[in-house]
Amino acid sequence: MDTKILAGAGAVAALSGFGAKRVFVVTDPYFMKNGVAARVGAACRAEAVEYFADVKPDPTVELAAAGTAKLKAFGADLVVALGGGSAMDCAKAMVYFEGTGLRLVAIPTTSGSGSEVTDFAILTHGEVKHPLVDEKLRPWAAILDSDLLMELPKGLIADTGFDVLAHALEAFVARDTGYFSGAMAKEAFCAAWETLPRSYRGDSGARLPMHQAATMAGLAFTHAGLGLCHALAHALGGQFHVPHGRLNAILLPSVISFNAPAAGAKYAALARAAGIGGSVDTIAVRNLRGSLCRLRRELGLPETLAQAGVAPADVKMAAGDIARAALGDPCCASNPRTADEGAVRAILTEVSGNG
Ligand SMILES: NC(=O)c1ccc[n+]([C@@H]2O[C@H](COP(=O)([O-])OP(=O)(O)OC[C@H]3O[C@@H](n4cnc5c(N)ncnc54)[C@H](O)[C@@H]3O)[C@@H](O)[C@H]2O)c1
Ligand SMILES: [Fe+2]
Repeated sequence: MDTKILAGAGAVAALSGFGAKRVFVVTDPYFMKNGVAARVGAACRAEAVEYFADVKPDPTVELAAAGTAKLKAFGADLVVALGGGSAMDCAKAMVYFEGTGLRLVAIPTTSGSGSEVTDFAILTHGEVKHPLVDEKLRPWAAILDSDLLMELPKGLIADTGFDVLAHALEAFVARDTGYFSGAMAKEAFCAAWETLPRSYRGDSGARLPMHQAATMAGLAFTHAGLGLCHALAHALGGQFHVPHGRLNAILLPSVISFNAPAAGAKYAALARAAGIGGSVDTIAVRNLRGSLCRLRRELGLPETLAQAGVAPADVKMAAGDIARAALGDPCCASNPRTADEGAVRAILTEVSGNG
């Protein structure tokens, strides 16, 4: 793997072996308050540790710039990102803009974004979420410590878990997917399909396998790319600030239907691999879509944007901007079926719901 991966209960202890003298920890206020950031900082056994704990969900370009200035002033030899996709993306952008190729250790606390192994960092500028994509954004190491996941709230497990399913599914059918990324996408989808409901129900034994599935899905999509579901989730997230995974949960069934004419055989293969089944491809695709909708309900997730608190009239008013942002998003280019404004508007109407 390009990123060194260390996984298991208590894996943050590995930080002591990285020989760091000056460590810069990037996290959000939640981990500063509950003492986990201090525990992670101490595990580095460094001479000095500085904390940047201002990360908020959907980090902005301005926040990353402020963090970069603090990082430069401190003079670190190791950066540690602790948190969900937002903290990791912010830290990745800071290391990128700092420009000297500092080592970054990413410690995810949600089983979701896969950011700990990807070339992506998503920053918000105005009302648009821009994916920065560059190999230099890939963290040096990822630590998957299941001890950090024991307090995960159910809603966060559901949101971020659907992000994993969307990553694996989109990577599996992406235009440029290949044998290796396809194998990782398939394994990640099957593992998440099995462990996400268990993790949601409180089975602590499911936390590490689900965490590893999230990272595996990240490895798959960083090589294969994503698709229209993510392009739309970025566009809608920039406008309405609904959690990223929740948007994927709302969008995924409609995107599968749109893509089915181009990717039906692959969706069917994935459905069969996950035990969802279906004798002929069209039925397997229908079963895949139906099973995702059932899981979404089981995990208490909304089915429409209206149920997620976004008024259909607001979606209608912003539809032109959303379509432009989605079609210009890098994820759209790897979607297996070419989308145009009409297709995007039709999906938006389908997922809007009744206000
Ligand atoms: N870089 C990538 O490859 C990539 C891929 C997908 C998504 N993303 C981005 O990642 C972001 C979403 O990340 P996310 O879904 O991990 O959520 P997040 O990082 O935005 O965190 C959401 C909330 O959960 C809290 N939280 C995190 N871990 C917790 C824990 N263990 N216990 C309790 N609370 C916890 C955080 O404090 C925060 O308030 C979005 O901005 C999305 O665009 C990036
Ligand atoms: Fe995602």
